[in-house]
Amino acid sequence: MQTTLPSPGTIEIAPSILSADFARLADEIASVASVGVKMLHLDVMDGHFVPNITIGPPVIAKLRKHSDLFFDSHLMISEPDKYIEAFAQAGVNNITFHIEVTDEPERTVDRIHDLGCTAGITLNPETPVESIRKVAPLCDMVLVMTVRPGFGGQEFMDDAARKVIAVREMVGPNIRIEVDGGIDPQTAPIVVSYGADTLVAGNAIFGRSDRVAAIQAIQDACRREGRNVRRPHGGS
Ligand code: DX5
Ligand code: ZN
Repeated sequence: MQTTLPSPGTIEIAPSILSADFARLADEIASVASVGVKMLHLDVMDGHFVPNITIGPPVIAKLRKHSDLFFDSHLMISEPDKYIEAFAQAGVNNITFHIEVTDEPERTVDRIHDLGCTAGITLNPETPVESIRKVAPLCDMVLVMTVRPGFGGQEFMDDAARKVIAVREMVGPNIRIEVDGGIDPQTAPIVVSYGADTLVAGNAIFGRSDRVAAIQAIQDACRREGRNVRRPHGGS
C-alpha cells in the first residue's frame, strides 16, 4: 500500500469518488486503480460545514479492505479534531481539513502526524492565502479549492485557482499543491501552469463510462504543459 504522498515532481491525478456509483464503490475504485493512479480522493461532508452529507469512517474502513491506493481524505466538516482519530483508524493515509473551521491548525496538523498520516490544509475560494501562512509549511499538502465545496460537477473558478501561484511561492517546491473542483482536460493544464501538481477530478472521471480514456485525457493535457506525468499502468 502507498502510505506516503508521491514525492514532488510528478503530476498525480486523484479521482474523487463523489461522482462514483455509491452502491458499487469497490468496483468503481477498481476501475480507476487499474489505470495506474496512486491516490484516491475521499470527500467527507457533515451537512454543517457544507450543505451535503457523504461518507464517514465506517464506509472508508470497508473500502480500505478493497484497495491499496493512497487514501486522500478531504474533511469538509466543522469539527475535524473530534474525528481525525477515527479517520486514521479507518485507514486513510492523508487527512486534509479546512482552515475556516479552526483557530489552532498547527495543533491539528501535529495530531494528524502523530496518528501516522500526512496532513493537508485547505481553503475555500473566498479565503485569503494569507490565512494559511503559518500552518502551510508544516503540512505535506495544501489543497486550493477551485469550487465552493459541497458538490461535484461544478464550474471551475479561475480566480480561486490563481491562488495556487501565491501558495507555491509560500511553500516552495517540496509541498504538494492539490486543486479540487471542475478539473478536466481543459482546466488541468491551467492549474498545472499555476504550480499545482495534484489534481482531484470527480465528474471528469466517474461521469464517463471509459475511465481509462477519462484519466488519460487529463494526463495527456497536462503532458502538453510539459510536466512529468505518471503514465497509465505504472510507468513514469
Ligand atoms: C467538492 C469536492 C470535490 C468534488 C470535485 O466539494 O471536494 O472533491 O468531488 O468534483 P468535480 O471534479 O466533479 O468538480
Ligand atoms: Zn474534495
